[in-house]
Amino acid sequence: MKQLDVLKNYAKAVAIGAYDSDSPGLFGKHDNVRRYWEDRFNRTVMSQFLAPVVERQRESSSGIRVMDLGCGAGEGLGILTSLPQRARNLDSELEKVLDYRDISHYKGVDISPAMIEKAKSLHEKRSQASFEVADLSEGLPIEMGEPPYDVYFSSYGALSHLNDEALGKLVGEICKHIEDRGIFVADMLGRFSYEWPGYWGNPNDNGSKMNTYSMSYIYPPDAKGEIEVERFPIRFWGGAEFDRFITEIAADKGAKVIRRRLCDRSILVGRHMNTREFNPEAPPIRAAVNSLHQINCRTDLSQLIFEYHPQPNHPHLNRFFDNLQNSWNAVVYACIEALDRWRTPQKLELEPLAGYPPVVQDAIRTIRLAVRMAPSLRIDDPRANLVEPQLAYLLREVEWNLQQGLGASHGLLAVYEFKK
Ligand SMILES: C[S@@+](CC[C@H](N)C(=O)[O-])C[C@H]1O[C@@H](n2cnc3c(N)ncnc32)[C@H](O)[C@@H]1O
Repeated sequence: MKQLDVLKNYAKAVAIGAYDSDSPGLFGKHDNVRRYWEDRFNRTVMSQFLAPVVERQRESSSGIRVMDLGCGAGEGLGILTSLPQRARNLDSELEKVLDYRDISHYKGVDISPAMIEKAKSLHEKRSQASFEVADLSEGLPIEMGEPPYDVYFSSYGALSHLNDEALGKLVGEICKHIEDRGIFVADMLGRFSYEWPGYWGNPNDNGSKMNTYSMSYIYPPDAKGEIEVERFPIRFWGGAEFDRFITEIAADKGAKVIRRRLCDRSILVGRHMNTREFNPEAPPIRAAVNSLHQINCRTDLSQLIFEYHPQPNHPHLNRFFDNLQNSWNAVVYACIEALDRWRTPQKLELEPLAGYPPVVQDAIRTIRLAVRMAPSLRIDDPRANLVEPQLAYLLREVEWNLQQGLGASHGLLAVYEFKK
């Protein structure tokens, strides 16, 4: 029955066209936050670990083999093949870490026939890509003698559909299937997100229980109420418990495991900050950040202020969120203040910044500079098109720098290397 709800949910998502267009905007699956924060975060994290793999495969001219677990409409292919190095100057070309031509085979598997159909139609010209329907709760979908993959990849919560037993079996089979080494990328839903404090439970529990989730956010805001939104079980993970889980499974299979990264993605801009479906006190910060990135659109900056309500029994998380709240709000207030006083820029330099982490000090200086420079640049509406996107990028840096991989976010991104 629950599996049926998962299938219905994703079939509907395909039917409404959520997987068709990837032009970013104010809401929907491919909104600005997904494009400029989430995809970008995934790419930045993965490029560090893929670069050496790519180099090795280029030397041996063998090409990289990737399996995408819960591939949806084949999003992983796009995420992996548009891994740009950060542009450090204005006059050189952007280099990619992984080019489509580096991939010798990409195999996407997903339980949803509708998704696989969509993936096939979107990628029909990609001759190295193949897609098949498979249920990951039955284990790793490989044929007898199927060659190992260099990267076992998953994105945006696909493996959070599995309970602990099924995930353990899958990871164990990956450990056995690798050649001498393989990269495993897991992208789980974070248990300690402010989107759902009701799911945090007791800090010492492992959270092996499945909790109810929905993807109501993919529907346009004005369609709510007319659409029946499916609810289905999801496993939410804390960072430490996920790390323990993977380490134990790998050790049990005799594989060595090296944790390459464990990080929080979208702490204040999770999808359900806007819906408030699981936390009525959540401020709709994702909507405000989407607006910051939108061309010719001015944002009410007060909508960006994060007011955290401490949760009983979680002093460590309370300290983490408290610190993030102070840092984040300081940058927002600095921007509001600079806009109020942009005609008297000399005063802006006098504000004391000591006491804030370096990333926040740097962000405050930068936003003041952007406000001062903006009116002299030739651009329509410098506030909407220059200051506001800059503020978004600075807030993104604050979030990325202060995250601790606690699972205090919508997405917990983990990269492991398994070795035999
Ligand atoms: C949130 S979507 C993510 C899709 C894609 N990876 C992306 O980055 O957008 C989760 C995907 O997991 C798939 N899924 C859920 N349960 C699964 C299972 N038991 N076996 C295989 N795929 C599953 C769903 O059909 C869906 O396409």
